[in-house]
Amino acid sequence: MAKRTYFSHKGILLSTLYSSEESVSFIENEFQFFDDDIVTVSYPKSGTNWMLEILGLIWHDGDPSWVQSIFSHERSPWIESVDGLEAALKYPPPRFLTTHLPFQLFPKDFLHSKCKVIYIMRNPKDVLVSHYHFAKFCEGLEEPGTWEEFLEKFLNGKVMFGSWFDHLKGWMKLKDRPNMFFISYEELQQDLRGNVERIGHFIGKELDGHQLDEVVKHASFQIMKDNKMSNFSLLPDMDHNKGKLLRKGEANMKISLSFLLILLARVLYPYGKAVGDQTTPKEDD
Ligand code: A3P
Repeated sequence: MAKRTYFSHKGILLSTLYSSEESVSFIENEFQFFDDDIVTVSYPKSGTNWMLEILGLIWHDGDPSWVQSIFSHERSPWIESVDGLEAALKYPPPRFLTTHLPFQLFPKDFLHSKCKVIYIMRNPKDVLVSHYHFAKFCEGLEEPGTWEEFLEKFLNGKVMFGSWFDHLKGWMKLKDRPNMFFISYEELQQDLRGNVERIGHFIGKELDGHQLDEVVKHASFQIMKDNKMSNFSLLPDMDHNKGKLLRKGEANMKISLSFLLILLARVLYPYGKAVGDQTTPKEDD
């Protein structure tokens, strides 16, 4: 399994370090859900690991011992990876599962299942910046190149798991299903306690005031940053001198006009040229 290379599966780029043709084909066509599965789905860098921490804490009534003693990828394996799939198949129910797969590669069995899916999304500018920094130190991802190069790849969907725009559009088609819950990173930032309560309700866990406070406390950026079971600091496929999973943890709602125009152009003209000759927006625009 080579580092920093991708293969294309049905037009979607996937990491050769984590996935294989066989694992993703199995997931799409043969993987079976149980009705009590709780699946976190996201485009990479949208706050996936934050959601896993929140779910683990809710499940244990705010007690942090589970999330602070078991690795996040063991608590909620990423099913598109070879190792994660193996773990998921051995996982005694009720299972927590995770995936970044776009809907067209998600297990077909989902359409006949009552399993619960939480889709977490984040504004594309912050996803892009977070992804760019993550690719510098995670050896499962291609080298990002310069900011300008990475921006172009991101806008053209030539990054791991394909286009942010298509991912969101594909999953959004399911928004009216009762077993789907959509939430944004920005909503979590705005009102963590209120949203922990909503998530708890969705997964069938009603917490009291003290338990909610405990979830909010242990899911905070600072406490999670120090949790070695969730902060990726013990994972071997990362160069820990070059970056951290919990980098800034902010919702940057200040986007420059040039960025907005570029994003709008991509929605209107997917994979076409961006608007005219405008200059490339910078990372902090
Ligand atoms: P930044 O790189 O902008 O800091 P994912 O888990 O999908 O890979 O997303 C990673 C992003 O979620 C990172 O964003 C990380 O800092 C942020 N994140 C993780 N845990 C968080 C928390 N407890 N509070 C706020 N942001 C968090």
